[in-house]
Amino acid sequence: MTERTFSIIKPDATERNLTGKVNAVIEDAGLRIVAQRRIKMSRAQAEKFYEIHKERPFFGELVDFMTSGPVVVQVLEGDNAVQRYRDVMGATNPENAAEGTIRKLYARNVGENSVHGSDSAENAKIEIAQFFTDDQIVG
Ligand code: CMP
Repeated sequence: MTERTFSIIKPDATERNLTGKVNAVIEDAGLRIVAQRRIKMSRAQAEKFYEIHKERPFFGELVDFMTSGPVVVQVLEGDNAVQRYRDVMGATNPENAAEGTIRKLYARNVGENSVHGSDSAENAKIEIAQFFTDDQIVG
């Protein structure tokens, strides 16, 4: 089933000029980048995006990090895109990530973990709508 997921290349990766290398892993996994924009997230955008984590002890640190530098927001399309991208990203904590995954290759730690991907098709729709209009996605 063709579906879409939402991805963010995080500030630790853009800082190290890894956008192209991350995109190569994404494309090699059979996912198509159907929308992409480099932005500096505002605090309001980051707080809204990570609203579900607002009671977590790391929430402040997470918002600080996500607004600390440029990010690349993306829409990825492909067969089972949500699960496929989660497999390609690897575990949230790079210490637990499988060989060849983006986080194993590039993440620094659980916070500076290089990429975000939606955890469900339902959340993907919500997350995509926070950064893209339908006409900006060219499938
Ligand atoms: P992400 O997929 O963007 O969704 C929530 C983020 O919170 C997660 O990736 C991690 O980068 C971050 N996170 C999760 N656990 C911790 C933690 N213990 N300390 C700092 N950040 C965390």
